[in-house]
Amino acid sequence: GVIYEMKGLDNLERKLEKALKIKKAIIVSGNCDEDELALKDMGKTTAMYLRNIINDNQIIGITGGSTMAYVAEGMPDEKKKEGIVVIPARGGLGERVETQANIIAAKLAYKLGGSYKLLHMPDNIKQDDLKVMIKNPEIKEIIDMIKKIDILVFGMGRADVMARRRNLKEETINELLSRGAVAEAFGHYFDMKGNIVGEATTVGLSLADFNGIENVIGVGGGEGKAEAIISICSLKSNLVLITDEGAGRRILNLV
Ligand code: G3H
Repeated sequence: GVIYEMKGLDNLERKLEKALKIKKAIIVSGNCDEDELALKDMGKTTAMYLRNIINDNQIIGITGGSTMAYVAEGMPDEKKKEGIVVIPARGGLGERVETQANIIAAKLAYKLGGSYKLLHMPDNIKQDDLKVMIKNPEIKEIIDMIKKIDILVFGMGRADVMARRRNLKEETINELLSRGAVAEAFGHYFDMKGNIVGEATTVGLSLADFNGIENVIGVGGGEGKAEAIISICSLKSNLVLITDEGAGRRILNLV
């Protein structure tokens, strides 16, 4: 659009696609770290992008976090397609209620006139309890659906910020950071090259599942997330990145 051209954001988008070797980059103006309006705008932009690519009877997976909350918020309240099911991509990760994947999935489903399935799991569950829970038929049903996600919309965070937000022990945080963790997405921690260096004990989307999904939309903005975004974009070449100018410009300085 005209505003994009005036600000040169379309130029920035093409540069970012090249630098990160990804399918598509969409940039909103501003910097989420300094301005919540940019975050809101990113949510709305993601919602509109998602709305345009959805087809009948598709399964949409979504993660938690404040960015994803703004995606559900920004979705117009108008039925678009038939038979849409929205599911959380992962079990509980220790988020506040408003930013939990379950809540966001339900809200998004409502906006799209579709249905939802929720994953009822306590946060920070022990490994042994996890083995029992995945045998529960209701939980197993969702885990199987996660393997069939058609479109995944997910938030990307900084490893240090997310580890603290999820109340990991100080020694676990230090261990993650000493392994080079810079990014967190769907409960996985990654180093700068996209290697997994840690994982939350919960169920749901694995990296192998992620790699098999045809449409993945990664959303994250703010200058501070630049390294995290570079790491996550290295995971998958057909990724669609939705970010802001703050992160976009910083990324181009780094790669
Ligand atoms: O995994 C990353 C987080 O979901 C990002 O959270 O959107 O609140 O920064 P945020």
